[in-house]
Amino acid sequence: MNDASPIPNDLDSFWMPFTSSRAFKAAPRLVSGAKGLYYTTVDGREVFDGTGGLWCSNAGHGHPRIIEAIQKQAAEMDFAHCFGQGHPIAFQAASRMVALAPGFDHVFFTNSGSESVDTALKIALGYHSARGEGQRRILVGRQKAYHGINFGGLSVGGIGLNKGQFGTLYPSAQHLRHTNLPENRMSKGQPETGAHLAEDLAMICETHGGHNVAAVIVEPVAGAGGVFPPPKGYLERLREICDQHGILLIFDEVITGFGRMGTPFASQHFGVKPDIFTAAKGMTNATVPMGGVFTTAKVREAFLSGPEALPDLFHGYTYSGHPLASAAAIATLDVYRDEGIFENAAKMAPIWEEMLHSFADVPDVIDIRNMGLIGAMEIDPNSSRTAPELAKKAWDIGLSFRPIGNNFAMSPPLTIDEEHIGKVKDMLTKVLR
Ligand SMILES: Cc1ncc(COP(=O)(O)O)c(C=O)c1O
Repeated sequence: MNDASPIPNDLDSFWMPFTSSRAFKAAPRLVSGAKGLYYTTVDGREVFDGTGGLWCSNAGHGHPRIIEAIQKQAAEMDFAHCFGQGHPIAFQAASRMVALAPGFDHVFFTNSGSESVDTALKIALGYHSARGEGQRRILVGRQKAYHGINFGGLSVGGIGLNKGQFGTLYPSAQHLRHTNLPENRMSKGQPETGAHLAEDLAMICETHGGHNVAAVIVEPVAGAGGVFPPPKGYLERLREICDQHGILLIFDEVITGFGRMGTPFASQHFGVKPDIFTAAKGMTNATVPMGGVFTTAKVREAFLSGPEALPDLFHGYTYSGHPLASAAAIATLDVYRDEGIFENAAKMAPIWEEMLHSFADVPDVIDIRNMGLIGAMEIDPNSSRTAPELAKKAWDIGLSFRPIGNNFAMSPPLTIDEEHIGKVKDMLTKVLR
């Protein structure tokens, strides 16, 4: 390979994530630049980043303040671990994080959403053990849920295709039904019906004993499974059932965190407080891998009753609190605050919603779902065209979005404005009509 060329000529060495290598090689889609809301392809075309990276580049690409913070930190201290020692910038990053989430006093740093989910599940199990309720081993997820790809997250996840190659994984996982009801098609924002589906948790408690259930984990707005906003009253009812049975409620905010709903976290938007929540992606504006698990003081305190010489939690990653990630996180939070990024998301959400629903009359678009700056359209499975075909057509005219089965999802950078939304509409018109 010619190292000077921006175009790799070996497409075989890199085993790509969630990719059909044969399809990719047949029509490679390669980008080599990213600025603001656009990618530049290797052949010099601009493509609107309709998925904000992968639901993560919330302040757009290449923000100079974040880049500068990373460069400065790399020169000052590239790495130091946090196993029994520390460095100020990780503590600063943690303080800034919890300040965004009133009622949550601690954050455990990870490197990804998947690690955050597995960490959260382990914290839930450890919490109950520490309190003498080690029999609580059931972890409850939901159909169509995406909680990353590690053992725990995949076990509570609910996307059959992702699980099929791997078997049972965690043996005590149970699942709620998903909340995508046909009667709610074309709902704007939260659907009216479906709160009753939270009773699945009560049923699991009845069947297995609520005293055996450790935690239930849900995405406040399900994302990668197809974008399903929670039915009105659903999250509230889950909270009630958890309280009745002493079950920890975990929100997976890997997508919804850092402003996608117009508030720092979706729990604030919905007014339902979990005991633990996960985050990643927008935490550093996706510049340096970093995730986190936020807990209430009550959860953390349960871990402080063991011998003082031993770790509170027998868990951690070499890169938990990595200096570069911490620097990126602090700079990212500065940008979110100083540029009113979350406020812009709140302002643009209704305009985004109107734009998406203007396609409701397209004959083979059978559902449109949206919440905050997330949206999805579902293509009739009997249509002559498929979501991946539409995604290809969109890419060719300069718009990227993500096909998920017969849906395609969009989650633009939160810096989107009315003009961008108009451009997206024009491109979607060319793709869909
Ligand atoms: C809700 C949710 N949880 C977890 C993950 C996994 O995150 P990562 O890909 O960073 O491991 C994702 C990724 O999209 C997600 O959407």
